[in-house]
Amino acid sequence: MCGIVGYIGQKNTKEILLEGLKELEYRGYDSAGIAVLSGGVFNSFKATGKLINLEEKTKEFQTKGFAVGIGHTRWATHGKPTELNAHPHVGESSYVVHNGIIENYAQLKKNLIDEGVTFLSQTDTEVIVHQFEKNLKTTKNAFDAFKKTIKELEGAYAILLVTKAEEEKIFFAKNGSPMLVGINEANEKYFASSDAPLIGHATDVNYFEDGDYGYVSADEIIIYDKNDTKKAPHFAKLATNKLSAQKDGYRFFMEKEIYEQSDVIADTLLGRVSEKEVLFEELDASLFEGINEIKLCACGTSYHAALTASYLFERYAKVKSTVEIASEFRYREPIMSKETLFVVISQSGETADTLETLKMAKNAGLKTLAICNVDNSSMVRLADATILARAGIEKGVASTKAFATQVTIFWMLSLYLAKRNNTLTQAAIEKQLELLRALPLCVKVQDSMHERIKRLSKRYLHGHGFFFIGRDIFFPLALEGALKLKEISYLHAEGYPSGEMKHGPIALADPELFTIALLPEHLLYEKSKSNVEELSARDSTICAISPLAFDKADDFIETKKQKDYMLEFFEMMVVVQLLSLEISVRLGNDVDMPRNLAKSVTVE
Ligand code: AGP
Repeated sequence: MCGIVGYIGQKNTKEILLEGLKELEYRGYDSAGIAVLSGGVFNSFKATGKLINLEEKTKEFQTKGFAVGIGHTRWATHGKPTELNAHPHVGESSYVVHNGIIENYAQLKKNLIDEGVTFLSQTDTEVIVHQFEKNLKTTKNAFDAFKKTIKELEGAYAILLVTKAEEEKIFFAKNGSPMLVGINEANEKYFASSDAPLIGHATDVNYFEDGDYGYVSADEIIIYDKNDTKKAPHFAKLATNKLSAQKDGYRFFMEKEIYEQSDVIADTLLGRVSEKEVLFEELDASLFEGINEIKLCACGTSYHAALTASYLFERYAKVKSTVEIASEFRYREPIMSKETLFVVISQSGETADTLETLKMAKNAGLKTLAICNVDNSSMVRLADATILARAGIEKGVASTKAFATQVTIFWMLSLYLAKRNNTLTQAAIEKQLELLRALPLCVKVQDSMHERIKRLSKRYLHGHGFFFIGRDIFFPLALEGALKLKEISYLHAEGYPSGEMKHGPIALADPELFTIALLPEHLLYEKSKSNVEELSARDSTICAISPLAFDKADDFIETKKQKDYMLEFFEMMVVVQLLSLEISVRLGNDVDMPRNLAKSVTVE
């Protein structure tokens, strides 16, 4: 989830760009850069780490008079967070910044290299500027070259490009990643990935739509739509509150991040799911050579993702999988075998307990893999291989989109291993790939569902506790739902295997015991249903979450009929996330910063 800014005007362009990048810090970044074209001269600066490093590099640089400029904060998806990989990326006389993923960059890059182009970075973005300059040589017109380049790109992008071929214009294109342009009475033009950087500068904004491309100068805004039809900008008044702008109008970052799950899962899938197979270009097949067991190790929500993975790895890839809580694994003097692949899962990549287990595995000579959301974090630097979650910065302490992208990666990895181990037929794999491609739509929050949960939440503000229950992969989801509720409502909740309730916990059943029952249609429905009926018969208050009507429930949250239990899993994930959110809101808690918690537990 990178951040983009652009400016056309007479003010100090460097200051405007740096200030805009600061307002995008909430999107997360590991490097940043700017490029300014003024008086026919380009000045460009890039730095890794915090924005202050970029400010330090640019402190001697000032722009006077008219200039065009672009800036970028990078959240690494392709290529390590280094200065070379930071944006803007340069051609011979052009610079580009980009948010998103160019799915067909490898082929474009190969063609360009075959034609003698030298690449400086490992990024997908750099192909854009070289492809543009290649096209410019034939079209002789910057806009035609830009248009041709955009048509050659596949994937998600928000692009700004500046070139000496048209010194007073910024070329833009938007498809799948957000971007807008703002104006004011001083005839200045501002670009950004969200409206926060424009507050206090622009008065009106035009939110580009997917497929929009064109150029902006001091005097005009030229927009073409995905059908190459010219269209007028549609301006709306700009919001005035920066924090609400960073929350994009949601009440909390956690709420925003639940709604973002559709987009970040799409990002996580990008370039990794073809018609025929799952592709992890970041993995070398040798990682799995000689491996007969996968051991997953994590904490908290990441542990729940790991538990979910263990079911999928054994079911689809027929590889023995075990799961460890990192703080336990560290001290129980575990027996480790070199035929075990050790997988750590962490949103932050800095959780102390998980990091220590990774060191233990490395010291024991095991091959290691990190599933992480922060590139260049300690675990990413230490593990033999990494799969990045591409969830963007997660500001809510209660993890949501990170969990969603972790499970998405594990689903993909189970299919990747199934193909490698020949444990699923090609037809079965392709059916799963079709389900994976339906995932972003499946987790899109429906207003009607959110409203239903908001209304329902008023009934669950007390009681002597909650049981979230489920079977198979819905057991780790039950654990996750219970953790979400505990974290942000401070009410006691347990996740439990449905089949285990009769082995003791059912003694707690009474009207004040709230049971949130996960009842997927396509996985052990009848068995789960009978477990819930046992509780209902003892007068426990039941809230059933299911696509199938269940008359023994006191409350019922109807989910969609899905083709497969994996889609039911993700839809019910959104339900339990929203349920904990709305209960917490009613209790007046700080949803984003719950008491006693930290976003990354870097101490034991
Ligand atoms: C999840 O909602 C919690 N914030 C917490 O359990 C978290 O998952 C855990 O601390 C692990 O963090 P990590 O994923 O960054 O390693």
